[in-house]
Amino acid sequence: MPSADDLFWKDVAREFPACREVRYLNTGTIGIMPRSVLSKTASLAYSYYLRGPARVDVSSETYDALNEAKKLLANLLGCEEQDLAFMVNTTEGINAVLMSIPWNPGDVVITSDTEHPAVKAPLSHLEIKKGVKIVAVPAKAAPPDEASLENAFREAPGEVKAVVMSHVSYTTGMLIDLSSLARVCHKHGAVFLVDGAQFAGADAPHLRESGVDAYAFPGYKWLLGPEGTGGLYLAPSLRERIEPSRAFPHSVNWKEGAAPELKREAEAYQTSTPPVLNYAALGWTAAFLLDIGMDAVAERCRSLARMFKEAISSIAGFGVVTPADPGRSLGLVSFTINGFQLDDYLKAVEHLYKHDRVVIRAVSNPPALRASFHLYNTEEDVRALVSALKNLKLPG
Ligand SMILES: Cc1ncc(COP(=O)(O)O)c(C=O)c1O
Repeated sequence: MPSADDLFWKDVAREFPACREVRYLNTGTIGIMPRSVLSKTASLAYSYYLRGPARVDVSSETYDALNEAKKLLANLLGCEEQDLAFMVNTTEGINAVLMSIPWNPGDVVITSDTEHPAVKAPLSHLEIKKGVKIVAVPAKAAPPDEASLENAFREAPGEVKAVVMSHVSYTTGMLIDLSSLARVCHKHGAVFLVDGAQFAGADAPHLRESGVDAYAFPGYKWLLGPEGTGGLYLAPSLRERIEPSRAFPHSVNWKEGAAPELKREAEAYQTSTPPVLNYAALGWTAAFLLDIGMDAVAERCRSLARMFKEAISSIAGFGVVTPADPGRSLGLVSFTINGFQLDDYLKAVEHLYKHDRVVIRAVSNPPALRASFHLYNTEEDVRALVSALKNLKLPG
């Protein structure tokens, strides 16, 4: 007989019709919006454009939803509304912080060697345009920890002004401990900027408590919102130390008879005339997750990931890159197949979709397959993936 827990999660999965069509195991690339949120967003869009966006009543209804979205996100992320700026994606948030730090040639940024281009590209920009040196801590075998970070500070070839790392690596699925790394950064006076793309929404990052200075995240992965949404958390202490590198009308305080000032709230970093409907939808997906409870969501992601790791590690020829320890991983699982190169993994992704309707992806650094487990996935999805993998033909 199915347990009450099984029935509850089956009920949740009904909100995501896509999961009846395919085994959707790629939230790490893009998550699925719940059907109820899609309907609400469509109604708001109809009301907005059919009645007239700038009509007083329509505009206030839509902007109320936008303001509510920030409240809900702050609640989910463990921070205050004034700490949050809406962004269109993760990379915009990472850029907003890095471009606001005053750099001198020879200054150093510490990062890891498994970062997404969302981190690597802004760092290359600093290297090319400002002469900043980039030091990458090895992270393929184990996630960066206090000891490896201390070591990187000790050996840095100049003043380390920032440390930029993923909360969960998109390629290994490994999770870093924010509080202990934040302590090391602060001891050395460096800004700790985190890419939360593979964490926010699968679990709650408790941002104020964590000690991180800045946290950039997308709305369209584990938070289940639409593309074109994301956000940036800026700790109050960081907002006192840096100023935005660009300004929008709401970035500036104009006082009669006084010089203009840049605002200290995170909103100062946010663009003007935002895509309000998208952010309203993101607020509703945050409410959907909060209703279930972030502890329950995180436990669900971890328990499906654990089930998959256990199954796959007992099959000859497969290896799991992501740690078995649920404290050092979340909903992403990367795994290897003996003898496979990147090209074989890319072919396997196509094959699994065509033959088994399984949606996963390949990653390249190190080469592996990656499956994502979120609240709409089920034990049947795990079994279907394992059985499809068992039937994959090994090369040679
Ligand atoms: C760790 C990480 N950062 C960032 C991104 C995406 O960046 P953006 O939201 O700017 O497209 C991804 C996935 O696409 C990711 O896995």
